[in-house]
Amino acid sequence: MDVPDDLVQEINDLRRRHKAIILSHYYQRPEIQDIADFVGDSLELSRQAAGTNAEVIVFCGVHFMAESAAILSPEKVVVLPDLRATCPMADMVDAAFLRNRKTELDEPVVVSYVNTTADVKAESDICCTSANAVRVIQSIPRDRQILFVPDRNLGLYAAKQTGRELVLWPGFCCVHDELEPGDVFKARRKHPEALVLVHPECRPEVIELADKVAGTSGMLRFVQESDAREFIVGTEEGLIYQMSKKCPGKKFYLLSNDLICNAMKLTTLTKVRDALKNLEPKVTVPERVRQRALRALERMLAI
Ligand code: 13P
Ligand code: SF4
Repeated sequence: MDVPDDLVQEINDLRRRHKAIILSHYYQRPEIQDIADFVGDSLELSRQAAGTNAEVIVFCGVHFMAESAAILSPEKVVVLPDLRATCPMADMVDAAFLRNRKTELDEPVVVSYVNTTADVKAESDICCTSANAVRVIQSIPRDRQILFVPDRNLGLYAAKQTGRELVLWPGFCCVHDELEPGDVFKARRKHPEALVLVHPECRPEVIELADKVAGTSGMLRFVQESDAREFIVGTEEGLIYQMSKKCPGKKFYLLSNDLICNAMKLTTLTKVRDALKNLEPKVTVPERVRQRALRALERMLAI
């Protein structure tokens, strides 16, 4: 895409004037990744949001990510360029249902994927991301029952890796959960030399066929360190832009053409410019909810 220089200049001027930082997830459009101060996975973005000295955070990602920034840095202005950018998986669990489910179980430790609303985090004991789900589960005493929300596939993967039994919530990512074993067989036939990488939000029968299972940053590290020259990538297409930038001599193929997260693609340069100009739309979290959600996020960040 041709990026107008004057628009980038305007974003840079506004960013300086407002002492703002632009954070981008790997699933954002290439031109957004290029203007960001930091591009990362969910865990790294939380760490950046918690540690930055900036006064304004422009979050190029989805709503739960901006909410996490507002929970971790309440004194900062957090803006999300398009408020409609919400993760469908995060909407598959709400606080009232979660409270109800807890009463049916044996005082469970609630582990919530960061892909949840602040209200759900407030009902949780500890958060996790795809990068640390296994370590988070391992940190919980073996005699405690664990309720894992909302991603069933990530829960099944973490259960297998840790040998722990988890009570799972029936949520899923509508992008990764669409992948089927047939997609892997087809891609391998087309690119027999390539290694297959998949995200743990994929179904177990897809994960079983992969050469490497990792979250976005783990995949990026893997392709940089591997001696292989070709990779079939089983996650949202935005990550391939960063892979190609970091490894210009290697080849990357998307595992399926449908690996596009519409919510992530709502952010555009024009919306980033407008968000910086107006410092809107802001994302805030009521203090009572924030205090409780913060505990769950801080426990995760301490691991
Ligand atoms: P990670 O970048 O943490 O792997 O998360 C993937 C994702 O689906 C974010 O919504
Ligand atoms: Fe949600 Fe999946 Fe999109 Fe991530 S890729 S924001 S989990 S729908």
